Amino acid sequence: MSQSLSQVVSADHAEVYTLHESYLVSKGDVNAQAQHALMLGWAVGRHAMMEEILMHPLQTRAIPGQGAELAAIDAREHEQIKEMLMQLASWTEGHGPGTIEFDNLLETMMGHLRRHNDSEESADLPLLDSHLGPEGSARAAEMFGKVKQFMALSRLVFSL
Ligand SMILES: [Fe+2]
Ligand SMILES: [Fe+2]
Repeated sequence: MSQSLSQVVSADHAEVYTLHESYLVSKGDVNAQAQHALMLGWAVGRHAMMEEILMHPLQTRAIPGQGAELAAIDAREHEQIKEMLMQLASWTEGHGPGTIEFDNLLETMMGHLRRHNDSEESADLPLLDSHLGPEGSARAAEMFGKVKQFMALSRLVFSL
């Protein structure tokens, strides 16, 4: 049975939480934490971009009168999260993964992200699903998967 847009977006949120957990459990191993932090940052950035490419235009089109505002609120919250991500990415040499400074900001970012994701899962996505209908939601979910695959591929190409 095909998945709804809510299901695939929520599954992507869960992937980010798993990467965060991997970062936390590898405390004491700076190299492993640096690697997990990199993957976590990539996954958060990719997720935000996928929503901006796919979900925001769908909200705007499918939810007359309210969708554009919901998309704009989502985008504003993404900007705050991206700013923290960029700050984390710029911290190296004594301020990087495993340091108190880095971990505090990472936890602040994850707190923002969890609240943001929770509100998507409980309000924005069910509303969008109901406006798209089962078939429209399944098509959007499939597209979300394709964009994700494409981004995974481009990450591979850029890391060569
Ligand atoms: Fe979002
Ligand atoms: Fe999201």
